[in-house]
Order: sequence, then structure tokens, then C-alpha cells
Amino acid sequence: MTTMSDFHTDTVLEMRDLYVGYYKDLNILQGLNIKVQRNKITAVLGANGVGKSTALRAAFGFLRPNQGDILLEGESILDIATYNRILKGLAYIPQQPGVFKDMSVEENLELGGWTFRRDKKQVREKIEANYERFPILKEKRKQITGELSGGQQRMVEIGRTLMADPNMLLVDEPTAGLSKMLSEEVYEMLTALTSRDDITILLVDQEIRHALKIADYVYVLELGRNKYEGPATEFEDLEKAFWVA
Ligand SMILES: Nc1ncnc2c1ncn2[C@@H]1O[C@H](COP(=O)(O)OP(=O)(O)OP(=O)(O)O)[C@@H](O)[C@H]1O
Ligand SMILES: [Mg+2]
Repeated sequence: MTTMSDFHTDTVLEMRDLYVGYYKDLNILQGLNIKVQRNKITAVLGANGVGKSTALRAAFGFLRPNQGDILLEGESILDIATYNRILKGLAYIPQQPGVFKDMSVEENLELGGWTFRRDKKQVREKIEANYERFPILKEKRKQITGELSGGQQRMVEIGRTLMADPNMLLVDEPTAGLSKMLSEEVYEMLTALTSRDDITILLVDQEIRHALKIADYVYVLELGRNKYEGPATEFEDLEKAFWVA
């Protein structure tokens, strides 16, 4: 069993005493502290509107914190623009799916390799790696993405994000709107990313039961602040407590 002391020894991403908001003087996050351990899945849970997505947007550089710090591999990234955070290995899959529905599956994947598009060999390798991860995408590579099922579109999106070869992945509600079966697939795939591809994951999720199954460590937020944290195994019995709005 994982214990508290196994954690916080090898932090990839840290949000330190973070205050973030959309308007001046109105902070949604009010002193949030999160540490994400290497090759683990860290889940951030909490009711609607507590600021989970806001935390991910700040980590990716879409929102500038009013106070506090965000560290990647121990270094502050506050002054680093999003595209440079990507070069440092950070990737983000937002809550709202963003595949290009009119393009084929393969074209969507190619777009993920935009920064190294001139290196055709690398683009090809990364696409093939995705086909290995998601065999169904290989089968449907010529198909228009909008014709795929919701789960498959999610895979295209995740695959496209993985083209950039991230080592730290921010994922916001990856299974929202998916059937139970497709959700299982996505969660399995996320677990495989940590074990097979050495990717570290910060997962925001409303599917508490599922998230607890795949997460190693869990943070529960309340109104932009930390409420509870601990190894996922310790949360199973307490699950109901976190539903309280
Ligand atoms: N673009 C925005 N402009 C202004 N306020 C926003 C914006 N996005 C979110 N908010 C507000 O910030 C607060 C936190 O929103 P956020 O999306 O981070 O919550 P969440 O925990 O991700 O919720 P959910 O579980 O519903 O996705 C909410 O009160 C929301 O209304
Ligand atoms: Mg959200």
C-alpha cells in the first residue's frame, strides 16, 4: 500500500500558494497547493465551480496568477509563455474537446506534430506510436474525425496531444459525456501512459469513483482551497464525504 511518505519526494509540477482569478481582485483560487509526483496520477476532485479547471489553465499559462508560484521540475514557469511550456514537456487536454471534426484522424494527429512538421520521419514515428496505443485510430485513420464516436474523438485528441512528446500531462475531465465502457478505456489508457510512457498526469475529474481507481494521490478542493489530500487508497471509504456541495 502506498503511504503518505512515498509521496512528495520527486515533484514534477507544483502549484504553490496560488491565487488566480478572471477579474482583478477576485480570486477563484485562494492559496491552492498541489504537488504532482513523477510517473504518478494525481487527481484533483471537488464540486462544480471550485476552480479545478482554473488551476489547470494557470498551470498551462492561460491565466496569470495574482500571487503564488508554479514550478515545473523545480523551476518557476510563471514568466514562461505557453508555447515554451510545451517545449518543456507540458501538455494540456482541456475540458471542452477540441478535435478538428472536418479533418481526418491522421490529419488531426499530424497537427499535433506541428512544431516539428519538417521532420517527416519524426512525425511518422509519433503517429505510428499513437496507432500502437489506439489501434482503432489506425483502422479509422482516413475517416473524418467528426464521424467517430465520442470516445474515439477523445482518443484522437489525446493522441494529438501526445505527438508533442510531453512528460507532464494536464487532463481536464477526460471522460465527460462518454459511456461507461468508453470511460474505462480512457482511464486504462491514462494509466498506461504513466506506466509505459513515463508520463506524469494531473487529472481533474468529476468521476470520483473512477478517478480514485486510477489515481495514486488525491487532492480535494473546496472554494479554491485545499480541503483534503492523501493517497487514493485512503479515500475510498470516505468517498461520500466529498460529494457534499
Ligand atoms: N472564463 C471565465 N470567466 C469568468 N469566470 C470564470 C471563467 N471560467 C470559470 N469562471 C468561474 O470560476 C469559478 C471556477 O471555475 P472552474 O471552471 O475552474 O471550476 P471547476 O472546478 O472546473 O468546475 P466544473 O467541475 O464545473 O468543471 C466558477 O465560479 C466559474 O464561474
Ligand atoms: Mg472544470
